[in-house]
Amino acid sequence: MAGKSESLFRESLKVFPSGVNSPVRYYRPYPEFIKKAHGPYIEDVEGKRYIDYCLGFGPMILGHSPNNVVEKLKDKLADGFIYGAPTQMEADLGKKISAAIPSIEKMRFTNSGTEATMHAIRLARAYTGKNIILKFDGAYHGSHDYVLQKMGSGGLTFGISSSPGIPGEVSATVVVGKFNDEDSVRRIFSSFRSKIAAVIVEPVLGNVGVIPPADGFLKSIEEQCRNEGAILIFDEVITGFRFNFGGYQNLTGIKPDLTILGKIIGGGLPVGLFGGRNDIMDMVAPSGPVYEGGTFSGNPLTMIAGYETLSELSQKDYAVITKNTEKIATSASESASNYGVQVNVNCIGSMFTIFFNSNRVDSYETAIKSNSDSFMKFFRIAKENGIYLPPSQFESNFVSFAHGTAEIEKTMEIFDTAFKEMRMSL
Ligand SMILES: Cc1ncc(COP(=O)(O)O)c(C=O)c1O
Repeated sequence: MAGKSESLFRESLKVFPSGVNSPVRYYRPYPEFIKKAHGPYIEDVEGKRYIDYCLGFGPMILGHSPNNVVEKLKDKLADGFIYGAPTQMEADLGKKISAAIPSIEKMRFTNSGTEATMHAIRLARAYTGKNIILKFDGAYHGSHDYVLQKMGSGGLTFGISSSPGIPGEVSATVVVGKFNDEDSVRRIFSSFRSKIAAVIVEPVLGNVGVIPPADGFLKSIEEQCRNEGAILIFDEVITGFRFNFGGYQNLTGIKPDLTILGKIIGGGLPVGLFGGRNDIMDMVAPSGPVYEGGTFSGNPLTMIAGYETLSELSQKDYAVITKNTEKIATSASESASNYGVQVNVNCIGSMFTIFFNSNRVDSYETAIKSNSDSFMKFFRIAKENGIYLPPSQFESNFVSFAHGTAEIEKTMEIFDTAFKEMRMSL
């Protein structure tokens, strides 16, 4: 007899393509359906608990349903959900973000990272009067027409490197550089001389699995943008408030013209943000002519969840999650090597990816040579033993502040078991 997840999946297949509402949630034979989540644990509809390293694909850095956020949301619920008018909560969260990431002088909240990158790109084009956008291979900036080329995340997982349905005229305005290859950026700037409106980059590539930037790579992009009059956009949807109480940019000394945020700043409720230099942001309507808007933008519940999440995060010692992540990464490498399973593990801050790859992964090209079948085998064994990972070789795992010593040690043990089982089937 089919279990609860399988039955729910069959029902979902009737109303959603592949039974899901976002591609990377799908895996064979059917995804586990989730009932609830607390702290570092997620629980499926059968009541089975897992230590969670997906964390909603990144927002839940404090762990699931932190008390302070839950309490504040409960307090607020009786006051109405949306007003279509400004609130103090938007200003409070906006000021907190601007203080932590000073390059964001002004901002607009959106409901997703996708919306935020779309508006930022339109704004950069309007500001510079140029059309071409340079993005990087394997980067994912959401699912709108300007950025669905050589994308990571779900696109890469399901072998869709760019989506049909995008007019050729639009695709022709997007050029793709190689992440961690300064020369590829130089070559593109020299062939599209003075036509490049903006370069959009994930400062730590998180959507082909995690790949840290090579020394000098981001600085070189910044220099080239300055020399050529192009807008530099840091897409910090994943990296914002992930490595420190601010952006990854705070660690680099680079001041992007525009920054995109999402995930963590909404505390798990839908959110996105684009912001940056005053003179650029003042071009947004109605102070300027560049249109952007949204019924749900800056909605009160998201603002509360975001504010409370950031308030708690500002008290946290990020070294703790970094150390826990390094422990898992080192132990996974050792276990794999003990059992003769070829992996390369990347980690930075609280992000890690176990690449089933015999070579070091430092680019899109090296990442895509990883063995997805082996990854899925590992994923299934880990899941059977109580660990929930993002279901793709090309995603990052996230460690939260709620993951304590017990969970970290249990994880190392289960990973060891998984590699051992994999050796048997080699
Ligand atoms: C770097 C980056 N930018 C943009 C997005 C799109 O954000 P959303 O899924 O909220 O639309 C994502 C989503 O994972 C992302 O990782």
